[in-house]
Amino acid sequence: MKKSINTFLKHPIKDSTNRSANPPIARASTILFDTMQEMYKHEAKIKQHKNVTHYTYGRYGSTTTIELENILKELEKAYHVFLTGTGFGGIALALMSLCRPGDEIIVSDNVYGPTKEISEKLLKEFNIIAKFYDPNSFDDLKKKVTKKTKLILVENPGSNTFEFQDLSKIVSLAKRKKILTLLDNTWGTPLYLKPLELGFDMSFSSATKYFSGHSDAMGGSLAVNKKVFKKIMFFYKLSGYRMSADEAYLIIRGLRTLDTRLKQHYQNTKIVINFLKKQKKIIEILYPHKPGSKNYKLWKKYYTGATGLLSIVIKSKNKSSVIKFVNSLELFGIGYSWGGFESLAILQELKLSKDEYSQGRKFFKYNKNEHIVRLHIGLEDPKDLITDLKQSLRYIK
Ligand SMILES: Cc1ncc(COP(=O)(O)O)c(C=O)c1O
Repeated sequence: MKKSINTFLKHPIKDSTNRSANPPIARASTILFDTMQEMYKHEAKIKQHKNVTHYTYGRYGSTTTIELENILKELEKAYHVFLTGTGFGGIALALMSLCRPGDEIIVSDNVYGPTKEISEKLLKEFNIIAKFYDPNSFDDLKKKVTKKTKLILVENPGSNTFEFQDLSKIVSLAKRKKILTLLDNTWGTPLYLKPLELGFDMSFSSATKYFSGHSDAMGGSLAVNKKVFKKIMFFYKLSGYRMSADEAYLIIRGLRTLDTRLKQHYQNTKIVINFLKKQKKIIEILYPHKPGSKNYKLWKKYYTGATGLLSIVIKSKNKSSVIKFVNSLELFGIGYSWGGFESLAILQELKLSKDEYSQGRKFFKYNKNEHIVRLHIGLEDPKDLITDLKQSLRYIK
């Protein structure tokens, strides 16, 4: 029977051995074979990347991680999906597998802080140079391409300041110049944007966020096309990157409700934004919330939905009163990771500082007395979230 992706996510795996609705968790280091011949045959099958049902050693995964790989392969329309122990592992896997001394990479300035840090600081130690481009300027990206450019890394939207880019333009430029492309799609998830179908070579998601959805698991998913598969597999096997069966199980469980949760995050976000946009102290909402809002057209051009992470720009001469606003929220927790069931708030410091470029933004224009607070709108009753925001916003002076 032909199934929609939402139905597929409810019924991806049957467990005929245990007759349970959920798959077993296969924790394994040793994987057993009946004969040496069977083992050799199986190794050959893995090399050909054909219908792999299990690996030959637990370091490469177990039946539980293969089940997750298969679900994500379908969701991403990918040739293969590499699973890592954290989201960041997926980014490191892509960069370390594909970049070599003498290469340059071009990275959008709005990427997640540690992505900036690995690009600029760690790769530099291997003589790989990162150049950052203004996510609001395709021309700036184009100008930075040289013969040495190996890869373009985009985060769309940037998960603090929510710039949306013209993705097809980036893909055509990269294809023309034979440059590899990687998109961090954690915000939109492959349910709302399929980077590989757009022509990106790699689609990355931190599975810690919406895939798992319950703030109790960590993982990364690097979905790839055939072109980059072999090189990444080579590094994956030798680096020891992997996801545990327990985390894979939790992420499989989370994915069953991905579509339902995302719809509710979006619904709640719209209601909360309706309240936020009437608040005088909030001068901008960084989210594609209405036609005419910044980047709305680019969001609409590529995405079939929006999720629950946004930022608000607060005007205040008194930074400590903005901190007081965040501190006094009762339902919104103060924490970095997002994509779980719960609401979160955090004051973002994006200013460039001399010794810590890693978290700083070269191309973001900070105006005096403006502060960015990032909010994750969770699955609580939005009426309660509004009450919470209302009682805390009064602290802003
Ligand atoms: C956009 C984005 N990409 C990647 C990561 C890294 O994921 P993880 O925390 O699972 O290592 C994060 C984490 O916050 C993120 O927000």
